[in-house]
Amino acid sequence: MNFPDERMRSPIILALDVPTAEQAVRLANDSAEVVGGYKVGLELLMGPGPGVIGALSELDLPVFVDAKLHDIPNTVQEAARWLGRWGARWVTAHAAGGSAMLSGAVKGLAEGAGGRRAGILAITVLTSLDESGLAQTGVTLSPGKLTAKRTRLASETDCEGVISSVRELGVVSGVAPDLVTITPGIRPRGADHHDQARVATPGEARAKGASAIVVGRAITTAADPIEAAMQINQEWRAALPAGS
Ligand code: C5P
Repeated sequence: MNFPDERMRSPIILALDVPTAEQAVRLANDSAEVVGGYKVGLELLMGPGPGVIGALSELDLPVFVDAKLHDIPNTVQEAARWLGRWGARWVTAHAAGGSAMLSGAVKGLAEGAGGRRAGILAITVLTSLDESGLAQTGVTLSPGKLTAKRTRLASETDCEGVISSVRELGVVSGVAPDLVTITPGIRPRGADHHDQARVATPGEARAKGASAIVVGRAITTAADPIEAAMQINQEWRAALPAGS
């Protein structure tokens, strides 16, 4: 599969997990030649605020806004509309919010983006939740079955894709092979796992069908971040894509 945005030359969506807009823009500028896009998470959204999306959009790579929207449909629709206006290329929303909420997110984002291309990525199941964690919330389906159900919902509501762990990528492609799949928890071979329990390499992600990968600390805390990103790109290119 080609990258999910025509501006991308690398599968890496770099997680800009820094406290200030200045640091985020500097990191984005420094890495522009070796990554395919930038991820703005809750830290930047709650600190410097959504203006950082606009500043990053000017660098001409897609901006992935990991807003993790989950509220009543009207509220999510209006929040997504704002993020579209700010320049988000992708916005995440929890599939657990249901069909009307996802449809609201899709509609709001498209309207906010005007004619620009923008899409919702549905979060299937948080990778921090296992079977017993799900059961505590009253959900008795296994993570795999729940991923299948929520992927179907994402597809039916015209989401552009889903966020899934590498482990569940096979389930996603079985249900909706045309959806974009972006996966976090990526570590190159031999790299520090930090607080991620279940990690996968860039090559494994590609082989299992990921369209792109979210990478943060494996690049940002490396002694040479540009070299680290280049190695990840190389590992991706060397891996065979799913289905080949
Ligand atoms: O530094 P690292 O590569 O672990 O960062 C991963 C990024 O992806 C962080 O911004 C984190 O919030 C996000 N993320 C994740 N695991 C998930 C979902 C999102 O690590 N299951």
